[in-house]
Amino acid sequence: MKAFAPGRVNLIGDHTDYTGGLAMPMAIDLGTTVSGHPGGDVVELSSASERGTACVPLSVTRADLADLCPSWARYIGGVIHELRPTAGFAGTVTTTLPVGAGLSSSAALELATALVLGFRGSARDLAELCQRAEQTASGVPCGMMDQLASASGVEGHALLIDFSDLSVEPVPVPDGAEIVVVHSGQKRALTSSAYGERRAACDRAARIVGPLLGASVADLATIDDPVIYRRAHHVVTENERVRLFAAAFRAGDLAEAGRLMTESHQSLRDDFEVSTEVLDALVQRLVQTPGVHGARLTGAGFGGCAVALTDPGALRKGWVVQPSAGATVG
Ligand code: GLA
Repeated sequence: MKAFAPGRVNLIGDHTDYTGGLAMPMAIDLGTTVSGHPGGDVVELSSASERGTACVPLSVTRADLADLCPSWARYIGGVIHELRPTAGFAGTVTTTLPVGAGLSSSAALELATALVLGFRGSARDLAELCQRAEQTASGVPCGMMDQLASASGVEGHALLIDFSDLSVEPVPVPDGAEIVVVHSGQKRALTSSAYGERRAACDRAARIVGPLLGASVADLATIDDPVIYRRAHHVVTENERVRLFAAAFRAGDLAEAGRLMTESHQSLRDDFEVSTEVLDALVQRLVQTPGVHGARLTGAGFGGCAVALTDPGALRKGWVVQPSAGATVG
């Protein structure tokens, strides 16, 4: 038995998912495969690329998760804790995703694990279960973008997701557009406190002005605290950029789509303050390269990868990723 779950790259709309906003990620042709045989009362998985073997009993409790070794076993434990499967599993994990780069290697592991452990249901239910597993395992109050993109991928399409109702609209990636992921060389150091602080700031803004998806920049004038204002300003303008980006993709306007991506990076840098000097320098270098329409950090920030929208062959370094189908079992 075997399950595959893709990673994802987010083209635009970061730090909007947990506010009930808009984002446009796509599932990619890099991902994680779990294969082996069901049975027993433990889940035992060895990895081809990461050290150690994960061995997690079906009776694992929330309190046990933090002590699981190797650290990726916590995601397996999180899935067991949420899914409560009746049989264990013995097998291997292989991945073509760079780990800790912001391409959702943990979500891919969660989805593939849930599928081999017998989860059957809609992409949305799978994503919800795996989001809870991720939150329990990592302690980070993450949104659902990574899991929903990995579960709902459509070949040749990016996914316009509205997190106020979890609707997913596939939007074709225009012909002649290349999507390139470039690692900054800085391992993503996503501390749960920095992410949690950003999320709390958005919650505070929403208590003052109402749901940020329905708010305009003018509505934010009632927010006195300058930090809360900047966080909300990012979210409100980012939602609008996602709308415009989807329209630009539909019209095949790569120049406009790229411009919006670069603007998104500036907003994540200045208003949301989740970029780093290394990511800023990388994005600047990318956008100055001929044939690159735009670039931005992708995912949570604090290191990891940038994504660029380019003409074919414009960049020599990085992963050229293809918009791909979602997680499958078979
Ligand atoms: C991480 C989280 C997602 C999302 C992004 C930022 O990847 O897991 O839910 O919040 O950061 O857009």
